[in-house]
Amino acid sequence: MLQIRSARLADLPGMAAVLQDAFSDKMHAIFGSDREKIVSLLELIYTGPVKRGYDGVLVADRGGRIVGTLVIEPLLHTADENRAFESLAVRELGLLRLLRAAFMLWLLSHKPGPDEAYISDVGVAADCQGEGIGGQLMAYAERWAHEHGRTRLTLWVAADNARAIHVYEKAGLAITRTRASWLTRLTYGIRRWHFMEKSLTSRQLPSGEREDRRRDAEDAEKV
Ligand SMILES: CC(C)(COP(=O)(O)OP(=O)(O)OC[C@H]1O[C@@H](n2cnc3c(N)ncnc32)[C@H](O)[C@@H]1OP(=O)(O)O)[C@@H](O)C(=O)NCCC(=O)NCCS
Repeated sequence: MLQIRSARLADLPGMAAVLQDAFSDKMHAIFGSDREKIVSLLELIYTGPVKRGYDGVLVADRGGRIVGTLVIEPLLHTADENRAFESLAVRELGLLRLLRAAFMLWLLSHKPGPDEAYISDVGVAADCQGEGIGGQLMAYAERWAHEHGRTRLTLWVAADNARAIHVYEKAGLAITRTRASWLTRLTYGIRRWHFMEKSLTSRQLPSGEREDRRRDAEDAEKV
């Protein structure tokens, strides 16, 4: 039985393992090759907010195994939590790699507005992909956003990630802008990114109109 729910502290090691596996290329580029270190750093990112009762860190739980994750930002940290993360990161990565990691994470960062439920860290365990878990995480995130008074679901996705884009479009999000960055091309090997969103207040665009908007956004990027 699959259950989508807010994460508890006990879920975080499983969640970190799913993220490490689902994003192994990016994790390798940002943090290096030591899997144990990456998992402990990832775990600490979510520990403070979850401990303080933040319920926008979501997991897919199949019979006690964490098989999927999705985080709704902003994910806020206290000064003490930031200090604890920095100390662990310096210890595990060393100062130079930490600076490099901070720069790479900054390249992908997004500052959500107060109306946004900004979705990040969507990952499903490799042996469970294609079973509808990503779609269920998105449906839960939309309900969460409604309940928390957010009026838009938003996210950035690599333009070549056709599977993720399909899952997001099926959840009703549409591409509204595209950006290209040589810095992300150099650091991650990914140049083009789509911003996708879904309004939770206005009428949804019919699929033909969504397709027109997507083409307009792509044409604008080509100019
Ligand atoms: C993207 C991801 C979260 C999707 O989760 P999932 O549980 O596999 O997704 P679902 O099973 O709900 O849906 C998969 C859909 O993609 C479709 N799909 C699979 N490969 C595809 C491809 N190459 N191009 C387009 N669609 C594809 C499937 O047919 C299915 O669509 P359907 O439901 O209409 O049949 C998961 O694959 C993953 O963790 N990928 C690695 C990490 C990642 O890229 N995260 C997103 C970062 S923005």
